[in-house]
Order: sequence, then structure tokens, then C-alpha cells
Amino acid sequence: MSKNKIKVLFICLGNICRSPTAHGVFLHKVTEAGLGHRIEVDSAGTAAYHVDKAPDRRAVAAAARRGFDLTPLRARKAIPEDFLEYDYILAMDRQNIEDMKRITPAGYPGHFGLLMGFAGEPDVEVPDPYYGEDHGFERVLDMVEKASNGLLKEIEARL
Ligand code: 4NP
Repeated sequence: MSKNKIKVLFICLGNICRSPTAHGVFLHKVTEAGLGHRIEVDSAGTAAYHVDKAPDRRAVAAAARRGFDLTPLRARKAIPEDFLEYDYILAMDRQNIEDMKRITPAGYPGHFGLLMGFAGEPDVEVPDPYYGEDHGFERVLDMVEKASNGLLKEIEARL
């Protein structure tokens, strides 16, 4: 079955490191594939600590080195209505899944799970780079790029 528009939401804790990285990388790939009018992308955090803030400057810098622009993004908190709107809700780690489950309506028909399932690694979590060194942000990018490629392939097959 073909759908006119598919909506993807990336989830992490603060919405300033991992999920904005996924947001920027996936949006870039969607745009590059000429599918900007068919696929909508957003990201949100399970916590409200950083609402309205730009992504962490280390995430912005690491993404920019690979040609991805995170500067327009601003943090927001995930809300129950996200489950009414998004077809894919993709979390970075298991704690995010547990936190989101508190606001997941019964019978959510979309795909709610770990992002790395789309990299063929369904049990793998994207580690939180916030308190670590710069290489943590490179690792996040490696993982997110791999999963984004898999996700785009799956969605392209549905369109
Ligand atoms: P994120 O990283 O969940 O990848 O955005 C974090 C950002 C901030 C905090 C934790 C994780 N914090 O505790 O402020």
C-alpha cells in the first residue's frame, strides 16, 4: 500500500545530542533522495531539561564535518500526541523506550522501537555522548548514518 506522506520522529533523552543528529542526517538523506515532500522528519526528548535549545555544539560540529547541518534544530519534549501523528517513533536506547511507553496509547499502529533495528542491529543502543569525549559524537554519527540508510530504503519501498 502506498502512503502519501510518512512521518518519522527520533527520540533521545535531551534532544540536544543523539536525536537531533539523527534528525539532521536523515533529513539530509531524504532531501538528497528527492523525497522531502513525501517524508517528514522531527526529533524530541523524553526530558524537558533543554527545551528550545539548539543542539549541543559538539554534535553540531561533528555533523558539520560530514556535511550535515543541525543548526536550525531546537529541542522539544515528546508528547502523547506524537503517537497520533508519527508512523515511525525511533528511540536511541532502552531507557527512552521505557520512558516513551508511559505515554504510548494502546494499539499504536506505527513502528515504535530502537533506531538501530534499521541498521540490522535490533538490540544495539546508541550510547549517550553528552558526558563523554568528542569521539562519542563520531560514533553516534557512524551509527545514525547506517540506520538512516536502512530506514530510507524501507520507507522508499512503502511510498
Ligand atoms: P541526548 O544527550 O539524550 O543524546 O540529547 C543528553 C543530553 C543532555 C543530558 C543527557 C543526555 N542531560 O542530562 O542534560
